[in-house]
Amino acid sequence: MARPIPPAPQVTLADGSAMPQLGYGLYKVPATDATGLCLDAIDAGYRHLDTAAFYDNEREVGEAVRASGLPRDELFVTSKVWKDDNGYDQALRAFDDSMARFGLDVLDLFLIHWPVPSTDRYVDTWRALIRLRDEGRVRSIGVSNFHAHHIERLVDETGEAPVINQIELHPRLPQTALRAFHAARGIRTEAWSPLARGRVLGTPFLDELAAKHGRTPAQIVLRWHVQLGNVVIPKASSPSRIRENLDVFGFELDADDLAAIASLETGERTGRDPDDD
Ligand SMILES: NC(=O)c1ccc[n+]([C@@H]2O[C@H](COP(=O)([O-])OP(=O)(O)OC[C@H]3O[C@@H](n4cnc5c(N)ncnc54)[C@H](OP(=O)(O)O)[C@@H]3O)[C@@H](O)[C@H]2O)c1
Repeated sequence: MARPIPPAPQVTLADGSAMPQLGYGLYKVPATDATGLCLDAIDAGYRHLDTAAFYDNEREVGEAVRASGLPRDELFVTSKVWKDDNGYDQALRAFDDSMARFGLDVLDLFLIHWPVPSTDRYVDTWRALIRLRDEGRVRSIGVSNFHAHHIERLVDETGEAPVINQIELHPRLPQTALRAFHAARGIRTEAWSPLARGRVLGTPFLDELAAKHGRTPAQIVLRWHVQLGNVVIPKASSPSRIRENLDVFGFELDADDLAAIASLETGERTGRDPDDD
């Protein structure tokens, strides 16, 4: 029998809610596999699932939540309003559609997926999310792919800051300035593509660090995120990788290890710059 994996700790958000620091990411998980892989993740010990309307697997994630047999409040579910649905009425409708697909009463975290500055509707989307939170339909609200200047505009125009910003973040793109901006304002940083979609894993010295700690390169990178304080949501397609990615709470990187990982910074994105939409 596989040894038990230490659970991900809970981190607190500025609105008083808590969420598991590590979750299972569902981008590019086909709907046909999503329920089974979520149940594998839950069986391994994950209590946090990250999806979006755009991923086309909300229905299957909702099925996994019910099939798990866990009390609803033991699972943390995130979804996101897609670019085309930015705007006040559109976002409210998109939320209703997401919840109908999930078959859930309350969502734990709802994010604006991308700001899409060219359409200039993200402040209206944010007002819709504030309403959904005030009505108790979602516990926490946040954003994704927002630069600091987008967040400043939300605060200037509504007086409300997001509790979290989910951004592309990995050793090639450590987002040092944006993380400092978040920290100064009590906004939690959440890392998407934490493994740079697997592209950082072939780096030779990660193999050396992995050997030093008796871990895998993916575990070294995920542990680096944890020690930065990031919420992190790796995606994987097999039960063994899903287990491997959660098992990062029983060892510690030292200052030399962290400095070596910092040398991987290139500034390269795997996705778009949010200001380019
Ligand atoms: N807000 C946004 O705009 C946004 C954008 C992108 C992603 N996200 C979220 O972030 C999550 C993660 O990002 P991502 O899926 O782009 O990339 P990722 O988690 O950095 O990388 C996933 C890739 O790494 C591979 N992998 C996973 N674990 C591994 C391991 N232990 N050893 C070797 N390879 C491993 C996976 O392969 P297999 O699948 O073959 O196992 C997959 O190809 C998404 O699922 C989604 O929830 C959000």
